[in-house]
Amino acid sequence: MKALEEKIRREGVVLTEDILKVGSFLNQQVDAAFMLEIGQEIARLFKEDKVDKVLTLESSGIIMSVPAAASLGVPLLIAKKSPASTQTGKTYSSKVTSFTHGNTYFATVGAEYLKAGERVLIVDDFLARGAALVGLCDIVKQAGAVAVGAAIVIEKQYQGGGDKLRAEGLRIESLAKIAKMSPEAGITFAD
Ligand code: G4P
Repeated sequence: MKALEEKIRREGVVLTEDILKVGSFLNQQVDAAFMLEIGQEIARLFKEDKVDKVLTLESSGIIMSVPAAASLGVPLLIAKKSPASTQTGKTYSSKVTSFTHGNTYFATVGAEYLKAGERVLIVDDFLARGAALVGLCDIVKQAGAVAVGAAIVIEKQYQGGGDKLRAEGLRIESLAKIAKMSPEAGITFAD
């Protein structure tokens, strides 16, 4: 998505070879109108896939998942990182260890919100090593639902998670794909 690449070039700050700061429009301050465009682009990419539900992981994944789900006309299901006090009954849960933050949590959804056979589109802001995406795919599998694919706003291709999951058969559409980056040389997008 050209407009996203331009936005990243204008506003993104490469903190290290592993971390891109996009706090001006995505992770902290949110460019809501631009997120609407991102959501519409995600919906366009998956409009033929009979999506029943969008699944994301709190917190930043929610930002673009709301317009994506609204554009597809389906509900958004948010996997929680800590158990909601209102969550009673059966849950589907998967352990995720974040390389970037160095923490471990259980991504969890209430079983009443995810049914066998439902066609699920997974949406997230970043894809690095793929730990969160593996966890969300695991939740979909536990429910007997079907992952039709994943839409990612920014994939850091060189960290390998996306290509590994594509090789396993998951369709992943990344709106911006970074081939490499460094504070000195800046960002190179993949074709
Ligand atoms: P992985 O799931 O692909 O393996 O990625 P990883 O564990 O390394 O990333 C975990 C968290 O770090 C995610 O946020 C992800 O959005 C964020 N993240 C990864 N790479 C970058 C980056 O280059 N820049 C920024 N700004 N964030 C990055 P999270 O823990 O789910 O937190 P939240 O922001 O959604 O609350």
